[in-house]
Amino acid sequence: MLRATIALDRGATVAQTDDRLFSSFLEHLGRAIYTGIFEPDHPVADKRGFRRDVLELVRDLGVSHVRYPGGNFLSGYDWWDGVGPRDQRPTRLDLAWHSLEPNLFGWGEFADWSKAAGTQIMGAVNLGTGTPMEAGHLLEYTNRPADTLWADRRVAHGHPEPWDVRLWCLGNEMDGEWQIGHLEARAYGLKAREAAKIMRQVDPSIELVACGSATVLQPTFPAWDRVVLEETFDQVDYLSLHRYYENEGNDLDFLASFVDMGDFIHTIGGTVDHVRAVKRSRKQIYLSFDEWNVWYQAHQEPHPWEQAPRLLEDRYSLLDALVFAGLGMTLVNHADRVKIACLAQLVNVIAPILTEPGGGVLKQTIYYPFQLLSRYGRGTVLRPSVQVEQVETRYGEAPLVHTSVVADAAGEVVTVFLLSIADQPVVAEVDLRGFGARRLVSHTCLEGPDLGAVNTFAVPDAVVPREVACPPEVGVSHQVELGPRSFHVLRFGL
Ligand code: AHR
Repeated sequence: MLRATIALDRGATVAQTDDRLFSSFLEHLGRAIYTGIFEPDHPVADKRGFRRDVLELVRDLGVSHVRYPGGNFLSGYDWWDGVGPRDQRPTRLDLAWHSLEPNLFGWGEFADWSKAAGTQIMGAVNLGTGTPMEAGHLLEYTNRPADTLWADRRVAHGHPEPWDVRLWCLGNEMDGEWQIGHLEARAYGLKAREAAKIMRQVDPSIELVACGSATVLQPTFPAWDRVVLEETFDQVDYLSLHRYYENEGNDLDFLASFVDMGDFIHTIGGTVDHVRAVKRSRKQIYLSFDEWNVWYQAHQEPHPWEQAPRLLEDRYSLLDALVFAGLGMTLVNHADRVKIACLAQLVNVIAPILTEPGGGVLKQTIYYPFQLLSRYGRGTVLRPSVQVEQVETRYGEAPLVHTSVVADAAGEVVTVFLLSIADQPVVAEVDLRGFGARRLVSHTCLEGPDLGAVNTFAVPDAVVPREVACPPEVGVSHQVELGPRSFHVLRFGL
C-alpha cells in the first residue's frame, strides 16, 4: 500500500489567507450575465431581474470579490453605453466574442447585484480601446460622492451613494495578440502607468492590478512581466496571472496541473523580486491570479451574431473537479504571494453554476471544491513536512498526494486538504505533533468510480462530496485511507 506522512509544525507558517483568494469573475460573455445572473422574465427573478436561485448559490460559495466586466470583452467596451435609462442604451457589436451586447446590464446593475450577492467588486478599466482619462471618468462615476460631472451623472442615474470600488484591473491580457488594442509590453506599461496616475488622483484609496502574462505559453512570458513592472512598479499593487488547464489525454498529467501553477507563481514571484531589487525598492508587489480554472478551449466553434449565445459552457467531470481542487490548494499554499484569485468564471461560462433560461440551476462538479476551499481554507497557511512518493509528469515531478494545511484564527481547528493523484489507495498519516492531540471532527471526500461523471439537470447529484464517518479517538496521529484519485478535507478539532 502507498503511504504518505504529513507532519504539522505550528510554527511553520506561510501566511494568513486573504479573503480575496476566494473571488470569481463575471464577464459580458455568452450567458454569464443575460440568462445567467440577470433574467427579468424568470419566475424566480427579483424586481431588478436578478435570478434569486443564482444569488443563493453565489452566497453559498462565499465568493469574496467578483471581477467585472471582462475579460476580453473589456478591451472594446465603453462603460458609458451600459449606464443611464435603459431605453437609451445602444446595442453594440461585441467584437471580442462576436456577440450582440444589448447593454441592459451595466455598472449600476452590477453594483446592485454585488450587494444582493454579498460580494465586493473588482473593477476593470478598458486599456485596449479605452484611454487613461476614460478610466478616470469611470472611477469618478463609481467612487466620488457627488458634485463633479461624472459622479453627478451616477446620482442622476438613480444611485445617490458611491460604490467605493477599491480594487481595479488596468486592462485585461494586454500581452495577447487576440486582445482588442493589444500592446507591446513597454507600451502597455506606459499606458497602465498613466491610467494609474489619473485613477489615484481621483481616488487615492484604490488598489491597482497590472496585466501580467495571459499564460505561461505566451512567447513573451516572462519578459512581459518584467517590462510591465519596470514601468508600473511604483503605481501598482498587484501583477495579474491567468492560467487555464485542460485534459490533453493523460489523466495523470492533467491531475498534476497544480505543479505547473506553482511553478508559474514561483517564476512571477522571482520576476517581481528582480524588478524590486533593480529599483532598490522596499515596496512589495503581490500577485492577483485573477483567472484560473479548467477550460476546454478546443471546443470553441464559430457562431453567428447573437445576444447571449451559448459560449464556453463547459461541462465539468469528477476528474476536472479533482484538478480544480489541486489548483485551488496551490493558490492557498502561496498565500504569502497570491492575495487575490478569481475562479474564471462564475455562471454559465466555464463556471461552477449553470442555468437554463426560464429553468433551473445546476451545481457543476467544480462547485464543490471551491465551496470547501472557500469555507475551510481561510486562516493561517502552514507548510507541512510531507513524505510521499513522487511521480514523473509532463510538468516534472509531482507528489502523489498534494497537501494544504490551514489553521483557524484560534489555532484550534486545523484543516488538512489532500488530493491523491495516485491510481491506487494511499494511507495518509497526519501527525499533528505541533498542535497536540485532536479528534478528526469531519472528513469530507470527493471521489467516485467514474472520473468522467458529470452533473446534469437530469442527474444533478452524480458528483457530490460525501461525509466519511470519523473515529471517536483523540490523538496526535491519525490514519486516513485515500481512495484512488480523490480529494479530502480533514478537520481536526478539540
Ligand atoms: O475567461 C475567458 C477569457 O479567458 C477571458 O475573457 C480572457 O481574459 C481569457 O483569455
